[in-house]
Amino acid sequence: MPVGRRRNWWCEPVRGGYKWWYQSLKNAGALPVLPGIEGVAHFIAVASGKGGVGKTTVAVNLAVALAQRGRRVGLLDADVYGPSIPVMLGLRARPIASGGMLVPPECFGLKAMSIGFLIEEDQPVIWRGPMVSKALMELMGKVAWGALDCLVVDLPPGTGDPSITVARCLPKASIIIVTTPQPVAIADVRKAVFMFRRLGTPILGIVENMAWFCCTHSDERIPIFGSGGGEALSREFEIPLLASLPIDLALRESGDLGEPLTASQPEAPASQAFARLAERVAKGLHLAPAE
Ligand SMILES: Nc1ncnc2c1ncn2[C@@H]1O[C@H](COP(=O)(O)OP(=O)(O)OP(=O)(O)O)[C@@H](O)[C@H]1O
Ligand SMILES: [Mg+2]
Repeated sequence: MPVGRRRNWWCEPVRGGYKWWYQSLKNAGALPVLPGIEGVAHFIAVASGKGGVGKTTVAVNLAVALAQRGRRVGLLDADVYGPSIPVMLGLRARPIASGGMLVPPECFGLKAMSIGFLIEEDQPVIWRGPMVSKALMELMGKVAWGALDCLVVDLPPGTGDPSITVARCLPKASIIIVTTPQPVAIADVRKAVFMFRRLGTPILGIVENMAWFCCTHSDERIPIFGSGGGEALSREFEIPLLASLPIDLALRESGDLGEPLTASQPEAPASQAFARLAERVAKGLHLAPAE
């Protein structure tokens, strides 16, 4: 997938391929009209160059933690090929249509939307890039998100169409980068950082996930995926390290059960870590104080 080779070049999916645009990032020209998100004050896209590092887990629990603090929050699953939000929220509701817009189902104090709500459970999405971008724009523009303090967007891994579409359509978005500490993850994550920088999308901070593990018999921290990767990334790109999260059995179980840990066990250590992350994110974005 081609990405702009130098600053101010945009690549847009069009019918049958891609089109290159030269645009000033300060004056980015006509953006697609997306009525569904007109009432959204802030967008937080959770991204990583690497798969399986915990983006969805972070997106879901961060969204719930922000909602628990009185914010009006939406959660958009932008992982069109592998939507995990329906499983992690335990939600299989088919959204209803009203006035030409889809009404997002609500749970755990959030409004949520995923392509997984619209297709059969085992049905694969077999689409080329332009279709993915179009579907994403519909999930943003034709969903009645209403007035929200923030919309958390769960991105798929990599630097492909969904990330570019989100960066292009949501110029006000801020990125949270999720990584594990190990070099094989950091190598891919660096590419995502470079991409968002090139697209001019600000990066709010890094979340280092699966940073250590403590077995039930000891407090000794075992660095299963290595250590220090998140901090090194933070230093290299001068991006704040917002949180370092351990491998947590309850967090994994809650994801599989469809009950986010922050909702089912708000006092659990991992939930407390998400609460601190939510505070830092709210501060970083200057989110209006909760009413
Ligand atoms: N801190 C953690 N402790 C224990 N398990 C975790 C943790 N973070 C994520 N997991 C588990 O790891 C798996 C992958 O997490 P998740 O789906 O959030 O990653 P992802 O980056 O969104 O993956 P993908 O790239 O496929 O979208 C899930 O089973 C999740 O429950
Ligand atoms: Mg995911």
